[in-house]
Amino acid sequence: MQKVVFDKEFLWGCATASYQVEGAVEEHGRKPSIWDTFCEKPGAILNGNDGSVATDQYHRYKEDVSLMDELGFQAYRFSIAWPRIMPEGKGKVNEAGVSYYRNLCEELHAKGMKAVATLYHWDLPQILQDEGGWTNRETSYAFAAYAKVCYEQLGAYVDQWITLNEPFCSAYLGYLYGEHAPGHTNAREAFDAVHHLNLAHGLSVKEFRKIGLSTPIGITLNPIAPRPATRKPKDRKASELARAITTEVFLHPLMGKGYPSLVTETLKITFPVQANDMDIIAEPIDFIGLNYYNEGAVAYDEEEPFAYREVPVWQRTTDMNWPIVPYGLLRLLHYFDDETQGLPIYITENGCAANDVVEEGRVHDLMRCDYLNQHFAICKQAIDEGVKLKGYFVWSFLDNFEWAFGYSKRFGVVYVDYETQERIIKDSGYMMRDVISGYCEF
Ligand code: NOJ
Repeated sequence: MQKVVFDKEFLWGCATASYQVEGAVEEHGRKPSIWDTFCEKPGAILNGNDGSVATDQYHRYKEDVSLMDELGFQAYRFSIAWPRIMPEGKGKVNEAGVSYYRNLCEELHAKGMKAVATLYHWDLPQILQDEGGWTNRETSYAFAAYAKVCYEQLGAYVDQWITLNEPFCSAYLGYLYGEHAPGHTNAREAFDAVHHLNLAHGLSVKEFRKIGLSTPIGITLNPIAPRPATRKPKDRKASELARAITTEVFLHPLMGKGYPSLVTETLKITFPVQANDMDIIAEPIDFIGLNYYNEGAVAYDEEEPFAYREVPVWQRTTDMNWPIVPYGLLRLLHYFDDETQGLPIYITENGCAANDVVEEGRVHDLMRCDYLNQHFAICKQAIDEGVKLKGYFVWSFLDNFEWAFGYSKRFGVVYVDYETQERIIKDSGYMMRDVISGYCEF
């Protein structure tokens, strides 16, 4: 008999996000989010795609939950669409939106699965963007009010809460690089957004504690911690700077350490901090979520705005052109373990895009199977080395709307035929089923 690798408590799940899978953007009172608007901007999204239909999960959630069950998943990480719950961003609650998530949770529970809800996976109500979005401090308070409604209305249904997903992307891809909604390219706005996202997180955890729910709450970060290109001190410095500006501006305030001095003193960047903000942001959480796809490398380059530039890492890449570096996950798990002093960690996303094709009704995505297996082995190693890794969520349950790349990139362990909305379990889905059942080949 083969050895059982992960213990029974380890939580195996799959993940998605509202705008990427739900569709039904005009149904039951939902109003536009910044992504509906951004998708209308010519050239913003590959092939002019948008999330108006996506994988139609709003109508097909029962079928999807059955498929998850068939694959043995023990938890589903989905996100709640703010513009469904509060179409105006604040104030009036839309009962139909609340019902949708209640029904989804009930369906999951009926199959014995846990409901893991992310409060913010990037679909800000457009009406709040019209007032400045994350550059406006009021958005942090609006988020806390929205979070409170979710706790009150869905607290009996959700088993685990995540406040924000990858605030790095909201702040930097949205306001500095212009690749995500709202598509701005302004450094001042981006650093204001960093602080207001941090504040929104802290305020929403405080609301959670006031209500007194006993379920765990945390946040999901995508640490970008590139290795130095060489051992030269300048390159090491470059990687420290990159880590500080992309990752530590979120992680350090969360852990009560304030903004990193490499950012505030070396790079002379300021944040719009007001009295008590840093205490609010440091409100203790129960776990930290880690999204991991790849690890890059950086070299010192004084010509660049933050004095570093990315360089190749000489590894095979996925369909996103992201290098495959499983060992980077081990480094990050240890980094999180050190920085958080042993807070429980969940891998809330890991996976890869591949150029999947259907052959006689099957999808033989062996590259993805290899990718996943290599990362599972790292999870096991990290646990053996003492990291409190409590669960793993594959990104994604099914192919979906990959933001600026539209439908051109497939991340699912379930294939979606976008013409018919037919779902086809890929080989990686079957492989995960067997891994979850406890008998692993890696
Ligand atoms: C992280 C994001 O949370 C998710 O929305 C996205 O699809 C994956 N990365 C893949 O890019």
